[in-house]
Amino acid sequence: MDKKQSVPIIAANWKMYKTLSETEQFITQIKPLIAKAKARVLVAVPFTSLKTAVDLAKDTNLIIGAQNMNDASEGAFTGEIAAKMLTDVGAKFVLIGHSERRQYFNESNAFINRKVKRALESNLQPLLCIGETLKERESGEMEDVLATQLSESLQDVETSSLKNVIIAYEPVWAIGTGISATADMAQQAHHFCREYLAQHWGAEVAGTMPLLYGGSVKPNTAAELLGQSDINGLLVGGASLDATSFAAIVNAG
Ligand code: 13P
Repeated sequence: MDKKQSVPIIAANWKMYKTLSETEQFITQIKPLIAKAKARVLVAVPFTSLKTAVDLAKDTNLIIGAQNMNDASEGAFTGEIAAKMLTDVGAKFVLIGHSERRQYFNESNAFINRKVKRALESNLQPLLCIGETLKERESGEMEDVLATQLSESLQDVETSSLKNVIIAYEPVWAIGTGISATADMAQQAHHFCREYLAQHWGAEVAGTMPLLYGGSVKPNTAAELLGQSDINGLLVGGASLDATSFAAIVNAG
């Protein structure tokens, strides 16, 4: 991807945080702080905050999305949410395959693959999360893990649809630990993903698919990460909960 021409993507993942009034407060507070941002700003809010966030984000540069969805179009799946319910309330994107979902809810690459396809056919932009655990990194399996996650999660996705997919590389050991990958480590992993995409789906797909880094991103680490040639944006957890700190990351882009 030609970084000189591409707009960085800065995405927030609020996880299981924020009530409606906290959602309202955040959006009201961040609006003026990011009014001049160059970046494309995405916020993945809890399901219960979606409608309010979409309404409040009208006429701002905030794009609202969800953190999960089911792979079925609808059905008897108590407690689940379908893609068309998300688009119906105005969500534009959805996180798929976050490591917390893989770890605590046993999501497999096959299930994640079905969700990616369902999101794409529902006009919802999938933000697919991949990343290795510390054990996998230490035993030299990082590249194999990333390659498997990419190939199985994107299996049989039409090449023409791949331009709508965003990938986030989030090493599991860096999530919520305060230990970010260094800019070099992140760049190395991103470069591997870029090459893998090029080998399997061609140079055009590899060149246009945005690759975000996530894992303990803070206002003081954002600029250096974004300066790496294969990093097109950031996915931010903890530091996205506070409007001032998230705005500082957005404005670093
Ligand atoms: P932290 O920024 O809190 O490490 O979380 C990263 C993350 O999981 C974003 O999806």
